[in-house]
Amino acid sequence: IGSCRATEVGPHADSVALSELPPRLLRVSLLGCGTVGGGVYQRLAALPELFSVVAVGTRNVEQAVEDGVPVKVLTPHLDALITEPVDVVIELLGGIEPARTLISEALRLGRSVVTANKALLANDFTKLHKASLRYSAAVGGVVPAIETINRARRLSSLQSISGVLNGTTNFILDELANGSDLAEAVRAAQKNGYAERDPKLDLDGTDAAQKLVLLARAAFDMDLPLRSIEKQGMESLNPKKIRDAKSKGRVTRLVAECRRVSGDFVASVSPSELPLDHPLACAPGVENRLLIQSQTGKLWDIGGRGAGRWPTPEAVLADLFDLRRELINAAEQEQECVA
Ligand code: NDP
Ligand code: HSE
Repeated sequence: IGSCRATEVGPHADSVALSELPPRLLRVSLLGCGTVGGGVYQRLAALPELFSVVAVGTRNVEQAVEDGVPVKVLTPHLDALITEPVDVVIELLGGIEPARTLISEALRLGRSVVTANKALLANDFTKLHKASLRYSAAVGGVVPAIETINRARRLSSLQSISGVLNGTTNFILDELANGSDLAEAVRAAQKNGYAERDPKLDLDGTDAAQKLVLLARAAFDMDLPLRSIEKQGMESLNPKKIRDAKSKGRVTRLVAECRRVSGDFVASVSPSELPLDHPLACAPGVENRLLIQSQTGKLWDIGGRGAGRWPTPEAVLADLFDLRRELINAAEQEQECVA
């Protein structure tokens, strides 16, 4: 952790990075201290030799203090956090505004930005995208979805991506299959920190569709308009249908898919009854799963916890470690040039 080189484990010889790290604190400001933001703060605070959290922007002081944030770094003035002299701004507010304005301004000022905001990126990616914008946490929770697509693409062009991309609906589908009612299952997903602020976005398939836009961009370099995705959420399902499927040895999953068809792309989000041994059926509860198929027939199959306070910050941390490596390597190269 914290090495200048990334550890790589794969089909080639593994490359394990040793911690030959020059001392370099990454100065960070954090916008939002809710489910994910509070978790990120705690992870950063536990690594004081690597990260210095300069400021935390929130309007819920009590919650932030409960999460261990010192009052002296808290502020309700989000604009001020952008002008702070930091290396990285982490945006974990959610929603479109003020997140969009704050991220644009931070990028304009030359800050690196890490965000988990798929709602924003699904709509405004081309306007916001810069090399210094990272968003691994926007898709798949702890699952390295975008990173794996990037690696798969280096070997061959891709035919399709399909997956369980929403932890809340996956959790709720399993709860319903086990006899819970919908309202009870939604409440449990909210209590566990899985659901969006407006859980309708999870239930009607919007959240999965937003993530599909980001994955399609990574897989096929294409701008998939959100409205072009054929979308059906959980509305068409009733608990009895899900329980009946279970009694016939089938598992109901909300599947998001984008594939090449006759030189074009077809994208959809819809519920599907799958056999027990289907890889997407094998993602229980809040887990996400992603299948990446190359045009040569090779299949990548990755999974892990897709939402919640502890999985999601790991993806934010992964982006921060990548940025830290880049900053250190850039500084070293500059020094070599001067020498
Ligand atoms: P929360 O609602 O738990 O946290 C958001 C925090 O930001 C809240 O404390 C909220 O304060 C604060 N906030 C929002 N707007 C403002 C504002 N204008 N001024 C000051 N504070 C503000 O959301 P999550 O942590 O769950 O999600 C954050 C982001 O991460 C979202 O983009 C979400 O889609 C994404 N994400 C979430 C995952 C999860 O598992 N929860 C997984 C992956 C991505 P207040 O409570 O007062 O409104
Ligand atoms: N609400 C989202 C989900 C959070 O349940 O998958 C993670 O992106």
